[in-house]
Amino acid sequence: MISPTLPAELKAALDAKLIGFSRTDAAQRAGRISNTYRAGGGSGTIKSDADALAYALARMPATYAAVAASLNALTEIAPELAPESLLDVGAGPGTASWAAAEAFASLQSFTLLDANRTLSSLALELAQDSRRLADCRYLPGDAGTNLAEAAPADLVVASYVIGELSEHDQRALGEAMWAKARHALVVIEPGTPAGYARILALRQQLIASGAHVAAPCPHDKPCPLTAPDWCHFAQRLPRSQAHRQLKGAEVPFEDEKFIYVALTRAPVPARFSRVLAEPDIGKAEITAKLCTEEGVELAKVPRRDKAAYAGARRWRWGHAVMAES
Ligand SMILES: C[S@@+](CC[C@H](N)C(=O)[O-])C[C@H]1O[C@@H](n2cnc3c(N)ncnc32)[C@H](O)[C@@H]1O
Repeated sequence: MISPTLPAELKAALDAKLIGFSRTDAAQRAGRISNTYRAGGGSGTIKSDADALAYALARMPATYAAVAASLNALTEIAPELAPESLLDVGAGPGTASWAAAEAFASLQSFTLLDANRTLSSLALELAQDSRRLADCRYLPGDAGTNLAEAAPADLVVASYVIGELSEHDQRALGEAMWAKARHALVVIEPGTPAGYARILALRQQLIASGAHVAAPCPHDKPCPLTAPDWCHFAQRLPRSQAHRQLKGAEVPFEDEKFIYVALTRAPVPARFSRVLAEPDIGKAEITAKLCTEEGVELAKVPRRDKAAYAGARRWRWGHAVMAES
């Protein structure tokens, strides 16, 4: 399991870039970029080195935490997975590559593909300060057309990317990424109903193409949740002083809401239930919403069943658990 906080090398590389960078300017740029995202405009407003740095300062810790949590869920279910090559689609500042390098000591080659030259320059500069990423390859251009040029990789990751594409392009990219993934594909999106809908559509599409769901779902069946119910997770991460200044935030942490799917070519041997919300710990029993192989259930673990109760006290939203139904 890797930590949700940025690795020391990446933090140091970012800190070095921030010397002399006005926090007021960074906050204004980050605010403009985030407003554009909220309005559905994607990363098109990231046009200068200062924009790219403001974006990385504002968002990289949180997207890193979400990728780290998603990769942890994959390695928990598929501990034998030891990818040697990574393809990071829509790599931006390289967030998912850094997280994958932490999660898999086996990784030797990293290819980053992105359409945004400014973010890609930042990714390459940050990578120079990494023992693992310094020799990474960069593929410029649109994933829709340029992914074909990428060599297949053991692991393909797309973090916070597919929401920037039209529905038609999401389907095409989903198929193309799966075709490049020799062992596994992990796609992460913001934890919103729209992000969940995109992940759900991709999950269905790629199960039909032969993929198996390693996480978060304990099965390859259709999602058992019925609207308006939906699924997402949250990862807590510390907020640095610079981040607090940038966001005008007071609390020393943030909770990144995200949704992901980790797909593998090999069937998944162990199936655990997934905790879909923070369990309710009552005096007489613990109640937890679980996604199980048989569907969604509200598990109730009575205090009188001491061993089961002690186990369930450790359950947290997003955990994979062994539950007796
Ligand atoms: C929100 S950023 C996420 C960056 C990074 N994956 C992360 O998690 O921090 C989305 C990235 O996807 C890239 N992107 C969006 N559409 C793309 C496309 N069609 N082809 C290549 N890159 C694309 C953008 O340039 C941007 O760098």
